[in-house]
Amino acid sequence: SVERTLVLVKPDGVSRGLVGEVVGRLERKGLTLVALELRTLQRSVAETHYGEHAAKPFFGELVDFIVSGPLVALVAEGPRAVEAARGLIGATDPVKATPGSLRGDYALEIGQNLVHGSDSPESAKREIDLFFPGLS
Ligand code: CMP
Repeated sequence: SVERTLVLVKPDGVSRGLVGEVVGRLERKGLTLVALELRTLQRSVAETHYGEHAAKPFFGELVDFIVSGPLVALVAEGPRAVEAARGLIGATDPVKATPGSLRGDYALEIGQNLVHGSDSPESAKREIDLFFPGLS
């Protein structure tokens, strides 16, 4: 069924000039962009977004990194968009991510893994409401 998912091109992706590559792959897969914005996150937004990781030892590092520069937040729509985007993105650890996936092709470090994608339709709803409140 038709779904929406939140994708972030993280600050490493923006600084390395890989926004077009990420957005292009989502588009060529057939997903439709319904929102897209370049922005630098407030710390409070980053902490809410990554709230499920608040107790993890890497939480501070994760938040520091995601607020370190501009990122691109976007909402993509299509059939099973959450799973489709996660397939394009690849595994969290870029060394384990399949070559051909974005992380598999363009990242090496788990903390700077280029892109984020919602991990379930429930997370997608929460994340889309956080980044794009009022999106119809
Ligand atoms: P992301 O999909 O944005 O969701 C949570 C993020 O936490 C994940 O990608 C990684 O970038 C980051 N992360 C997960 N494990 C670690 C770790 N061991 N050290 C640093 N960052 C991590």
